[in-house]
Amino acid sequence: MPTEHSPDSPALHPGTPVGVIGAGAMGAGIAQLAAQAGHPVWLFDMQAGAAERAVARIGDDLAGAVHRGKLTDAERDAVLARLAPAAALSDLSACGLLVEAIVERLEPKQALFKDLEALVAPHAVLATNTSSISITAVAQALQHPGRVVGWHFFNPATRMKLVEIIPGLRTNPALLAPLRALSKAWGKVPVAAPNAPGFIVNRVARPYYAEALRLASEGLASFATLDRLMREAGGFALGPFELMDLIGNDVNLAVTESVFQATAFDSRYAPSLLQQERVRAGLLGRKSGQGFHDYRPEAVAAAA
Ligand code: NAI
Repeated sequence: MPTEHSPDSPALHPGTPVGVIGAGAMGAGIAQLAAQAGHPVWLFDMQAGAAERAVARIGDDLAGAVHRGKLTDAERDAVLARLAPAAALSDLSACGLLVEAIVERLEPKQALFKDLEALVAPHAVLATNTSSISITAVAQALQHPGRVVGWHFFNPATRMKLVEIIPGLRTNPALLAPLRALSKAWGKVPVAAPNAPGFIVNRVARPYYAEALRLASEGLASFATLDRLMREAGGFALGPFELMDLIGNDVNLAVTESVFQATAFDSRYAPSLLQQERVRAGLLGRKSGQGFHDYRPEAVAAAA
């Protein structure tokens, strides 16, 4: 059995069993991508029932694709047959590629990677979908930190083409080419990103949120006005508040806090009270029904 992550490592070949940990928006999307690319996939979440709900959401998404003529019934059935919710982390022990998409905090990620290292084969690759946390730090507590790599997808993972590949200081460089090839096999456009706070995309995007939050908190423009301006005049796919609501205000705030801390509290990245208060109130965005905007069916109907 190989212990090196050479380009011939079986860990990153299509068909390798994939374990995804965290069945939220990103974990579900990554699990779907992997199953669509032909991998058997185990999806685990610490919250009972979350993996099953994610698999049901994937089923709905695939049913939509069948309805639009993008997928046949047989293809949908084949993708779903490759996807299984895991009752315990140990169900992932035979996976050659593990992708972590849990909460955006260092300590739980480090603890999970320690558990994974004890569970999986030596050649298995441990990828983290973190948006902002140092890959070196995620791998810090491991005996073999070389097997850890940043593999950062964007939301929604099934549709966004870009994926950042981020080596930590101890990441085995031999992992990078196979991971790039696998990303392409999954239909993605991989880019190499440095292991700096927020990598590339989240670093560049911080001012988009921060300045919009500043303008709104100074009472200079409403969320709706700023969103409409950036979408209709700025050419952005989503305005800043719509985008934060899509990402999840809890996730977006965690990324801001992580970048703020990692840049020695550079004031440009200081969290906004407007967002902090929303997170405290459970107004997390689309996933909770309310964020900067109101997505509850009655509000959507009233606005129509
Ligand atoms: P989410 O909050 O929707 O889902 C996270 C899931 O992980 C939850 O179901 C939770 O129960 C589970 N979880 C938490 N701790 C766990 C643990 N120790 N073991 C197993 N399951 C655990 O979060 P989301 O949006 O899916 O983000 C997940 C990760 O992906 C974060 O690191 C985030 O920064 C990153 N990310 C998020 C993006 C976004 O737009 N939301 C985009 C790209 C990356």
